Amino acid sequence: MKRGKLITFEGCDGCGKSTQLRLLSEYLTKNAVPHIFTREPGGGKISEAIREILLNGKNAEMTDECEALLYAAARVQHLHDRVEPALRDGKLVICDRYVDSSLAYQAYARGLGKDFVTKINSFALEHYLPDVTVFIDLTPEMAFARKRGADENDRLEQAGMEFHRKVYAGYKALAESEPNRFVCVDGNQTPQEIFQNVLRVLRERNCL
Ligand code: TYD
Repeated sequence: MKRGKLITFEGCDGCGKSTQLRLLSEYLTKNAVPHIFTREPGGGKISEAIREILLNGKNAEMTDECEALLYAAARVQHLHDRVEPALRDGKLVICDRYVDSSLAYQAYARGLGKDFVTKINSFALEHYLPDVTVFIDLTPEMAFARKRGADENDRLEQAGMEFHRKVYAGYKALAESEPNRFVCVDGNQTPQEIFQNVLRVLRERNCL
């Protein structure tokens, strides 16, 4: 069966991921590369409904375990609804956040531990490990300074600087532990410079 490639983008809130995804979308469309863009949490009817629960600033009493399980649940549905069909068609699947977000945010920053988060994400990790994960490397201090503070309606962005420092440290540890899958791109450059580096790493990994 012909299988497309799964490329995920990761980084701290405000690292500039969205701009890079927009530039990549324009590039792939211009070059007629068969692809889909999707995001987590979300990317389908049920997963988007779970996203609303997860990010809603009014759900402050949500436990860390519930949060981790909801991200994992949204992920399984998203894989079924959007990712698997596109991969089966041989398309490039570009996903804005994926299982490494759960490892950085829930395992490391919330402190739930890698074992628990790996276990509840075993379906994704065993069957749909990304071919390449692009980590836009920008500290939370720089990221929030750029976006002029955290979004007051976003539950995760409101978690505080200490939490986001742990997320960043989590990503760095993940990148170090899986150097073959992770590629780090310096996020402290102009969007065009970052994009040229993104294209370079995707070409090096035979994704383009
Ligand atoms: P979003 O507004 O999409 O953030 P961004 O534009 O920075 O990607 O919100 C997604 C939030 O959910 C973000 O704060 C990261 C968090 N998240 C997790 O904590 N765990 C996960 O598994 C995923 C996919 C996201």
